[in-house]
Amino acid sequence: MLYAQITGWGRCLPPARLTNRDIMEVMDTSEEWILERTGIETRRISHVMSADLAHVASERALACAGVQADKIDMIAFATTTADEIVPNTASLLQGKLGATGAACFDLNAACTGFIYAFQMVSDMIRTGTIKSALVVGSERLSSLMNWKRRESAILFGDGAAALVLQASTQESGFFQGKMGCIENTRELLAIPDYGLHAIAQHRPLDITIDFHGREIFKNAVNEMANACTEVLERSGLDLKDVDLIVPHQANARIVEALAKKLNADPEKIVITLDRYANTSTSSIPIALCEAIEQGRVRPGATILMTAFGAGLTWGALLLKWGERIAPLGESSIELPATDKTGLELIKEAIRLRENVWHDNK
Ligand code: UT7
Repeated sequence: MLYAQITGWGRCLPPARLTNRDIMEVMDTSEEWILERTGIETRRISHVMSADLAHVASERALACAGVQADKIDMIAFATTTADEIVPNTASLLQGKLGATGAACFDLNAACTGFIYAFQMVSDMIRTGTIKSALVVGSERLSSLMNWKRRESAILFGDGAAALVLQASTQESGFFQGKMGCIENTRELLAIPDYGLHAIAQHRPLDITIDFHGREIFKNAVNEMANACTEVLERSGLDLKDVDLIVPHQANARIVEALAKKLNADPEKIVITLDRYANTSTSSIPIALCEAIEQGRVRPGATILMTAFGAGLTWGALLLKWGERIAPLGESSIELPATDKTGLELIKEAIRLRENVWHDNK
């Protein structure tokens, strides 16, 4: 029997911070509102592209696994902020890493992307199609935000994380999952011009998020709770058997409502959204990496992950950690330095929108 063991992990958070107080300089909001309604205190803003964040996270994950990049069979790059659509950003990452033997694809299931990618790649390893893979989540959502839309712009941050998966005969890795998408909810979270619409209709681009927070909130709690319950039932486990819960980091109130619905012990839940906000598809692997670094992942631990995102996509999965919790090696790679603050980077992004994009909403 083959398993898809997690043998390496690494994350990359850009250094520039944007606090709630900073955001008050560019929009009509308050520190109190953001903290009370979301639990977010600060977030990171990237001065580099998604592939650059992914590169650093991946080098760290490969060093942790003690695996050379050219031994990787597949790169699954989950993102909603691809540097390029054609060719895909996974192949850009391939070149940066020297992963010459890897098949490369991008996957967009919004904030649920990592859950989808992890499950698909794990199944390919378990069936023997491939022997190893890099599963990456990377996002630079700050450059996509319309900073005139206070209900959405305050929620997101930038960052990346990567896991190395390798075939193993030791029982570990992904063992139960469920993925889905609620039909007819596409308009609840959408960026209509972030595709061919405007070009096909000969209109200027208007990249703006249409966002119905309350509706997304309700759907998110229900679907994540249902998905978690189903994967637990299918694996014959109870929530008491789960050692750690790593939910998508969208909003502290969503996580609390989910915990209440599942009757989960808050001590088992990993939270990073206070410091990194919602990093979309990267949020779960970033939180997992942090939990490992903090010693919260024990050998053989059972871990439950769950997410939701635009679509509305949703998913949950259960995995069993292997024996090793210490990295085999470390990479010295770092992002190029910047002395810009998060606020300076956001002001640059706002100027760019005004100069380049049609921006009258
Ligand atoms: O990962 C996938 C993406 N994430 C999500 O989809 C997140 C899901 N939704 C949420 O997290 C929450 O719904 C939000 C944090 C977005 C909003 O919280 P809420 O408690 O649902 O607030 P609301 O949208 O019902 O708005 C309440 C009030 C409104 O004012 P009125 O109409 O009551 O006067 C908003 O205009 O809060 C106002 N408001 C703000 N006020 C200050 C909305 N955004 C802000 C803001 N600062 N940034």
